[in-house]
Amino acid sequence: MKTILLILISTFLFAQDAPKSELKNVTVLPFTKKRDILRYMKKVVVPELGVKCKFCHEMNDYSSDKKEHKMVARKMMSMVQGINKNTMQKLGHRDVSCWDCHRGITPPAKK
Ligand code: HEC
Ligand code: HEC
Repeated sequence: MKTILLILISTFLFAQDAPKSELKNVTVLPFTKKRDILRYMKKVVVPELGVKCKFCHEMNDYSSDKKEHKMVARKMMSMVQGINKNTMQKLGHRDVSCWDCHRGITPPAKK
């Protein structure tokens, strides 16, 4: 009886430990579902920067941080979140996006 109880408890605890996110290496964006991050990549990142997935990603592993462009992009995402949270939303203005600087070009034009 005790053993069965123990097994039940540990199964329960183990189930609680299961990862909540479908994603492996997402530290800045608020997504946990693959479908949602893919929509953001396709509808925002790619068109607003004018680059393809492979500009930032290793094609055999999207969670890899090997490419320098991905590391820069992650910092840019964090910067944009900060601008929106600390400034734009407090002013009651719309959120800014990559587009506001990049306009479909990477790196963005200087003048
Ligand atoms: C400009 C760079 C850039 C481009 C282009 C880009 N991504 Fe990403 N992608 C990122 C960054 C940065 C992250 C990690 C974000 C974070 O840590 O919050 C990411 C994360 C992901 C993840 C999550 C992987 C995981 O489990 O950790 C997937 C899947 C993904 N991208 C798919 C794509 C696809 C598909 C495309 C093309 C349609 C694309 N990305 C284009 C920068 C890019
Ligand atoms: C406030 C303006 C601004 C915003 C907003 C912005 N960027 Fe940038 N980004 C820049 C500038 C300026 C450069 C070029 C830096 C240089 O050439 O020295 C750049 C360069 C980049 C590069 C190229 C880096 C490289 O290694 O060549 C990537 C990738 C990038 N940004 C991703 C993003 C993403 C993704 C977003 C939206 C989440 C974003 N940026 C939003 C200003 C911005």
